[in-house]
Amino acid sequence: MNHKAGRLRLGVNIDHVATIRNARGEGYPDPARAAEIAMAAGADGITAHLREDRRHISDADIDTLAGLTRQRGRPLNFEMAVTQEMEAIALAHRPHAACLVPERREEVTTEGGLDVVGQHNRIAPVVATLKAAGIRVSLFIEASPAQVAAAAEIGADVIELHTGAYCLAVRERRPEAAALLQNLKAAAAQADALGLEVHAGHGIDYETVGAVAAIPQIAELNIGHFLIGEAIFTGLDPAIRRMRALMDAARERTVAA
Ligand code: PXP
Repeated sequence: MNHKAGRLRLGVNIDHVATIRNARGEGYPDPARAAEIAMAAGADGITAHLREDRRHISDADIDTLAGLTRQRGRPLNFEMAVTQEMEAIALAHRPHAACLVPERREEVTTEGGLDVVGQHNRIAPVVATLKAAGIRVSLFIEASPAQVAAAAEIGADVIELHTGAYCLAVRERRPEAAALLQNLKAAAAQADALGLEVHAGHGIDYETVGAVAAIPQIAELNIGHFLIGEAIFTGLDPAIRRMRALMDAARERTVAA
């Protein structure tokens, strides 16, 4: 399936609204309010990561966000580690989608992709259980041919390509950015040919969004940290609108090419 003609969806990750809230241990700012603003500003869905250590999003946030997105008819993308605890929470809330991510307690953010090749036996039953519950299953992976093939083989509906290394290379003006972008393009084409829906995310900002959005097989971007950072300077609504406009412009150029 080629998404060239389709509009690129934007999932806004509101985790870091909870990070700021938790710095005070009180109720402000509220991630649900951010989700409302994001949806009004052009987000197609809301993404939230309930980490095992609950450092930002809480169980109560997931409760609220599941209800809010359902009410608004928008998808909730529940990012989760491959654990029995998270599987049970996903089954209790039945979000539109679950994105399985690797998680190490000491990491600052999700540092790499899921090792679908090496962790096949741990991941496969969780994929099967979530799918049986009607949840679309996405695997957050590096742009590696072996990981893409393993994601298809394990029965995932979607892969989300980890754009972190590419985005950081661009920001640091390192020459390997071009090769990293090439890997993303190749992985997107491979996944699409295998019947997987392709998403991408991590580290995307105004500078990098265009090149990623121009990859025609990509159907959705998930963006968080940069947008919440920009919200400090310009407000959340304008930041999302600008990101949305950059995505749409890049996609239009792809369609015209
Ligand atoms: N996609 C996944 C799977 C993630 O884990 C994250 C970070 O939580 C994102 C997208 C968003 O990344 P960022 O916050 O860097 O935009």
